[in-house]
Amino acid sequence: MQDFCDIKISRRAVLKMGAASATAVAVPTVAAAPDSASEAAALATRPPVTSKLSFTVNGKPEQLELDTRTTLLDALREHLHLTGTKKGCDHGQCGACTVIVNGRRINSCLTLAVMQQGATITTIEGLGTRSNLHPMQAAFVKHDGYQCGYCTPGQICSAVAVLDEIRQGIPSHVSADLTAQPRITAVEVRERMSGNICRCGAYSNIAVAIAEVAGSQS
Ligand code: FES
Ligand code: FES
Repeated sequence: MQDFCDIKISRRAVLKMGAASATAVAVPTVAAAPDSASEAAALATRPPVTSKLSFTVNGKPEQLELDTRTTLLDALREHLHLTGTKKGCDHGQCGACTVIVNGRRINSCLTLAVMQQGATITTIEGLGTRSNLHPMQAAFVKHDGYQCGYCTPGQICSAVAVLDEIRQGIPSHVSADLTAQPRITAVEVRERMSGNICRCGAYSNIAVAIAEVAGSQS
């Protein structure tokens, strides 16, 4: 019995010691909180770091001075007022913001504008005009490749670049032979366009439009 009591006392002692050391650890944390809050407030009021950059957009040289955190998408829409490029998710998941940079399509929400110093950028506004549509724009109109149209600029920029990628021999995940020239097949086009989401579900008409342009160019 004596042994049992001794053990209980011993356990209590251990628990008390644990509580005491936890308090000892907690005190500095509580004391540190005001410092972190004031540090956060100071950071919030600090002026943004800006950087000058220049690139060519739709054939026109542009010079901007931007907060270094500005995405290419926001630079195009908010600073150059090229609002054809759409912001869907702002997280690289929908493809609505697709533009062509140095010949390759990218999600403009996933790249910082400052990373594109000296780049040649094409947006939907640079592909064609109302009176002189790009063949891909004309095919989308002809085949009703859209409903609300929100995803359409990204779909068209992506489709134009996809056909170029295939012509350049760049393989995709469904290319059977990575060393052979890929062919423009429905499966290849679907795979390559899979990053462009259409909430309206206009996929079948989009595929027809792209196939028509691919056929006319081959
Ligand atoms: Fe860029 Fe959705 S807005 S991928
Ligand atoms: Fe509406 Fe594609 S046409 S999201």
